[in-house]
Amino acid sequence: MKRMLLTLLLTPLFAAAAFAHDPRIEAKVDDLLARMNLAEKVGQLNQLNGGYATGTQDGRRIDLEESVRSGIIGSFLNIVDLDYQKSLQKIAVEESRLGIPLLYAHDVIHGYRTIFPIPLAEAASWDLEAIERSARIAAIEASASGLHWTFAPMVDIARDPRWGRVMEGAGEDTYLGSRIAEARVHGFQGDDLSRSDTIIACAKHFAGYGAAEGGRDYNTVDVSERVMREVYLPPFHAAVNAGVATLMNAFNVLDRMPASGNKFLVKQVLKGEWNFQGFVVSDWNSFGEMVIHGVAEDNREAAKLAIAAGSDMDMESKAYFDYLGELVSKGEIPEEWVDDAVRRVLRVKYELGMFDDPYKYIDPARKEKVTLSDEHLQAAREVARESIVLLKNEGGLLPLKKNIEKIAVIGQLADSKKFEDMMGSWPAQGKNEEVVTPLEGVKAKVSTQTVVTYEPGCRDHGVCPPELIDRAALAAAEADCVILVVGENGDMSGESKSRAHIGLPGDQLDLVKAVVKAGKPVVMVLMTGRPLVLDWCAEHVPAIVNAWQLGTMGGHAIADVLFGDYNPSGKLPISFPAAVGQIPVYYNHLNTGRPRPPQDVPYVSKYIDCPNEPLYPFGYGLSYTTYEYSAPRLNAETININHTLTVSVDVKNTGSVMGDEVVQLYIRDLVGSVAQPVKELRGFDKIHLNPGESKTVEFTLDSGDLAFWTEDMKFQPEPGEFEVFVGTSSSDCKKARFTLE
Ligand code: GLC
Repeated sequence: MKRMLLTLLLTPLFAAAAFAHDPRIEAKVDDLLARMNLAEKVGQLNQLNGGYATGTQDGRRIDLEESVRSGIIGSFLNIVDLDYQKSLQKIAVEESRLGIPLLYAHDVIHGYRTIFPIPLAEAASWDLEAIERSARIAAIEASASGLHWTFAPMVDIARDPRWGRVMEGAGEDTYLGSRIAEARVHGFQGDDLSRSDTIIACAKHFAGYGAAEGGRDYNTVDVSERVMREVYLPPFHAAVNAGVATLMNAFNVLDRMPASGNKFLVKQVLKGEWNFQGFVVSDWNSFGEMVIHGVAEDNREAAKLAIAAGSDMDMESKAYFDYLGELVSKGEIPEEWVDDAVRRVLRVKYELGMFDDPYKYIDPARKEKVTLSDEHLQAAREVARESIVLLKNEGGLLPLKKNIEKIAVIGQLADSKKFEDMMGSWPAQGKNEEVVTPLEGVKAKVSTQTVVTYEPGCRDHGVCPPELIDRAALAAAEADCVILVVGENGDMSGESKSRAHIGLPGDQLDLVKAVVKAGKPVVMVLMTGRPLVLDWCAEHVPAIVNAWQLGTMGGHAIADVLFGDYNPSGKLPISFPAAVGQIPVYYNHLNTGRPRPPQDVPYVSKYIDCPNEPLYPFGYGLSYTTYEYSAPRLNAETININHTLTVSVDVKNTGSVMGDEVVQLYIRDLVGSVAQPVKELRGFDKIHLNPGESKTVEFTLDSGDLAFWTEDMKFQPEPGEFEVFVGTSSSDCKKARFTLE
């Protein structure tokens, strides 16, 4: 695996304009802008839905073709039919006055036709190269289907698994989330946006959306500027520094101002401190929702707030469509604000090569050739395997033998091609009927002598009639071992799918108990878009595998792991709470003034009915082998601000099978001008070790990696004592100390 050199967390002062600034393009943009009238300028800032809706619709009918012909629409989302794309593009290019090409966007979140694991699952692979490759393949398939722009990566840090969109991001950690944001931007955009197989990416949702109170989607966000800058903003900064061409406003307020009209976020941080040169698109009707938030009388005022904050393009609210031109012509807003927004949109269209060949993404032959290719399906299978997290394996029950005489596969999810159960939310143009189910994967894996029986045990969404449970229990009793697939249906996570109770949905626990009671060895395979509260299961089921929602090749990936063709290497990117009442529970918490010690004492920060620790912590994941870590060795005990510290650790595979291990590096700043987390991830390296093999892993830490937003809100390190931890999870590591002078 590529060694993970720690990335200097760039301070706002040094951020370059990562999105290309090609003087030849700037000249073309200026020339075209000078020839545009006000209606045409506003047109470039309007995006309308041309396909299925992913939000509420106002029912207003607009003649899309006439609007394109008049140059008053610049982009569409959800038009995925090549012929329709071509016909509208022809009108834009050949019939409008200036012939400015349209941009076609879609939510290509984890694959386009070949569906990859949900982003949260991919994050569990900690394999940045594999994650980048997934995005690359998604871009190849999407661009061959006429799409220029994906509304991804979603880079919202989330510490609350009740939130349905936790499936869409990279989990609870800012450092891991930032590295994955970079990988996904590089995957989608490649290193040359003018190529026909690259698409513009969109870091979303800017910003703080994952901190919705109660984990309830679209709810209020109220976090301090410091927490925004320490936790929620860095992945966006990383995406900008990786060259992301667009960002998307979030729905939520921040400091009581909706993100779409939030000058601090868009004008001050993104376009000011970070010098972002791309453009910002609203989320679906998020401009119009400023009226509902109660900060705008009507869409006319919402338009004013949005353009004043620097939000460039309006998805579906029609606030710009209806009022932006009038606001300029009446002198209520300066035309320069509109010009700046239009310049940004035109810049991206030029970068994409749209003016050179507006039809280059519409290529049926290429679409036929690349869609669902064997190479793409194999890549999906490989990253799916790496995304699986082994949570429990009592007595080494796993891996199973392929020649077991009789296996009972139980669970509605084991053989489901419905509700996007295997693909997960945001499946783009993936097809349920194309996925490989766990049952299909098991049948393809075992010997020809093995008998595989199947019982659903439940209907979907955890409806488990007693007769189905009884049949499942009987099948379990008659088998030599059971593979029990339970969890969430695909439509139980994603946007607007928050859950207040995050145990196994419905009556599935009754099924689990009945199957375990049958007395045969049980392997539980979890399929889920979020961490679940597993309490009874974690105690009574001998083997538990978290298989998330793994996409088109999920069934094969699950079988590869269950039968030992791949030794699970996944590590949790988000904590699994012991109880929903613990939420938010995350590893990089502050110490508090009364941390709970190991022994049970009063007057400390604890619950009287639940541990403080999650059931499974960030960075946790078991293997079929074992690894031994040396204590970390430092090349110096004291460094100054200009030095780098090298941290070395020997990792040995002390088991009998080869495996991939994610070696994790954390730090702790023991005293700061403001309280510091008890641990913070600052590096990781996924290494391959054969049985008995040992490798030395080296990390470098420099002052940038020790920086934080100090008491007077400067991003810089402070001298003092630090601890450094290296290990196999956030709760299983060895430490050393050093001093920063
Ligand atoms: C949705 C989502 C956003 C998505 C957009 C377009 O409401 O919040 O992530 O990209 O609308 O589908």
